[in-house]
Amino acid sequence: MKLEEIKAFDKEYFMNTFGERTPVAFEKGEGMYLYTNENEKYLDMFAGIAVNVLGYNHKEFTKGITEQVGKLLHTSSLYYIESQAKLAKKLVELSCADKIYFANSGAEANEGAIKLAKIYFYKKGVEKYEVISLKSSFHGRTLATVAATGQEKYQKPYYPLIPGFKQVEINDIDALKAAVTDKTCAILLEPVQGESGVHPVDEAYIKEVRRICDEKEIILIFDEIQTGIGRCGKMFCYETLGVEPDIFTLAKALGNGVPIGAVCAKQFVADAFAPGDHGGTFGGNPLATKAGLLVLDAMEKENLCENAEKMGTYIESEIMTKLGDKVKEIRRKGLMIGIELFTPASEARQKLFEKKVLVGAVGNTLRVLPPLIITKAEADIFIDALKEIV
Ligand SMILES: Cc1ncc(COP(=O)(O)O)c(C=O)c1O
Repeated sequence: MKLEEIKAFDKEYFMNTFGERTPVAFEKGEGMYLYTNENEKYLDMFAGIAVNVLGYNHKEFTKGITEQVGKLLHTSSLYYIESQAKLAKKLVELSCADKIYFANSGAEANEGAIKLAKIYFYKKGVEKYEVISLKSSFHGRTLATVAATGQEKYQKPYYPLIPGFKQVEINDIDALKAAVTDKTCAILLEPVQGESGVHPVDEAYIKEVRRICDEKEIILIFDEIQTGIGRCGKMFCYETLGVEPDIFTLAKALGNGVPIGAVCAKQFVADAFAPGDHGGTFGGNPLATKAGLLVLDAMEKENLCENAEKMGTYIESEIMTKLGDKVKEIRRKGLMIGIELFTPASEARQKLFEKKVLVGAVGNTLRVLPPLIITKAEADIFIDALKEIV
């Protein structure tokens, strides 16, 4: 189909939740590049919003997924699933978690995490149900995760929100202390806020948050849906901060494009879920969990966590050297990069698009989240294009 025909179908038949999209439709991908059906080639520095960590058509991933498609897609969790059991084991071995639950998306993983924190206290007979999260956060689009998301534009149309959620400023420990009550069951936060423009938590702040949680018996939940799976230079971002959460959530990169989410929890809190307390039809199905195993395998074999830190450092230093005064600030952890400009980033994003380079934009900040397989050659193409347009 021609782009204009696709656009006409979209306008007529698809709910208008995404408005005017970037005017392109991709047909295939290879490595760091996406291709239209007219064989126009785009360098992808956004990875499907931090999803495609292995880039496109990764050899072993594609082979493994294709084999799985030929064997079995779905059985439901009424039966045992080998890849589900193996992926849970692998995630436990890699992380501070002792038990895993699989969902289908980031929002659903966060829902699961919030439910787990609540049921933990419910089963102890303790009346704690409030969740504190951060302003400018993003936790998803379901009703509970919208209530946790600290941005009015996502909340307002859905008032009255689910009760029991409140937000405080990031890195303001006094605001957090003031918000905690004897009803607080969980503190939920992104180690680096992604959607609002790459804002990391301070290390001193997060250590103090951990201390407060220990002191007041509050469950600390990290939303690692964007920061997890190597994006920040370690498999999980919490590893860079010197604190462990009680629960953390994953999605996006865990499936490299196959939808999957995960709730990863320490034993004491994971034990609160008993048969019937939580569930779903698709979560952890053979295809999604096979994808997760293939991703983690490739991440390890190709040292992609190390590559994220190495290439992130390279991109940051090249931008500072070549663009210095054109850039207000760079905020970065691994390959989670926010480049703050002096003008609206949507203009820069559009100019980069015209140069066939894809990035994200919020406010004055360009969001750069490339596949973790990126090399210097591709980073240079991006940096040169950026230099030409700012
Ligand atoms: C930090 C964070 N949490 C949750 C979500 C929601 O994930 P999903 O869109 O898969 O529901 C996102 C998506 O951008 C995210 O960045």
